[in-house]
Amino acid sequence: MMQEYYADAAQRRAFLTEIFDATADDYDRVERWLSFGSGRWYRRKALQRAGLKPGAQVLDVAVGTGLVAREALAIVGPSGSVVGIDPSREMLKRAVDALGIAGHVAHAEAMPLAPASVDFISMGYALRHMDDLRVVFAEQLRVLRPGGRVCVLEITRPTSAVGRAVLRGYLKFLSRTVGRIAGLRPRTGELWEYYWETIDQCVPPEKVMAAMTDAGFANVARHRELGLFSEFTATKPATTA
Ligand SMILES: C[S@@+](CC[C@H](N)C(=O)[O-])C[C@H]1O[C@@H](n2cnc3c(N)ncnc32)[C@H](O)[C@@H]1O
Repeated sequence: MMQEYYADAAQRRAFLTEIFDATADDYDRVERWLSFGSGRWYRRKALQRAGLKPGAQVLDVAVGTGLVAREALAIVGPSGSVVGIDPSREMLKRAVDALGIAGHVAHAEAMPLAPASVDFISMGYALRHMDDLRVVFAEQLRVLRPGGRVCVLEITRPTSAVGRAVLRGYLKFLSRTVGRIAGLRPRTGELWEYYWETIDQCVPPEKVMAAMTDAGFANVARHRELGLFSEFTATKPATTA
């Protein structure tokens, strides 16, 4: 729990919803700087690596402005579908308006979807905002059909001190200097400084994988890109209800 931002889980939820609501207009722009423009391409490749195929019914958890959902839609094509959930109305609205997908205001911990109703679940860059990963993965397992796949994208804290210093410096530069010049929303700088702190304090990859296994997922695996981006994938066993 990061004390300078909130004191407990309820305050954390409120803080997150408020800050994502307040900065939704800037999200796509800042995300492009942060990923050096690779965000779209990378998200699509990650979904393909995780086994997303045309015709699949996809749930995108923490859909935000729709950056993962957009790539999922392109892969599943007209015979598939994508639905998004996000607790931030302002973020969700952008995804729903831009992509014409169905969306629900909801947290990953309790999703308004029927059991065994989707083939594939994606979740991009939201894991570090969640309190209890076992609850999140149990909920994903409930909603997935047997044999369904999950793909969780997250930034992993660089293992070297130099890597950490470079990333931290870059995020500070973005949030303070570029943010001011580009006339971003007042809270965007705060969000991206918070972004660094959540990466720095993020759950280690081994614990993410252990939480997936504990929830009942099979074939739990991690693919890494550039030492910074992790893709956690797993399958719902065919025998699980
Ligand atoms: C950094 S954005 C990522 C958006 C999108 N997935 C992407 O790849 O760009 C994180 C999103 O997670 C959402 N979020 C935060 N806590 C959440 C929770 N407990 N359940 C679901 N979504 C959550 C936020 O509202 C925000 O839209």
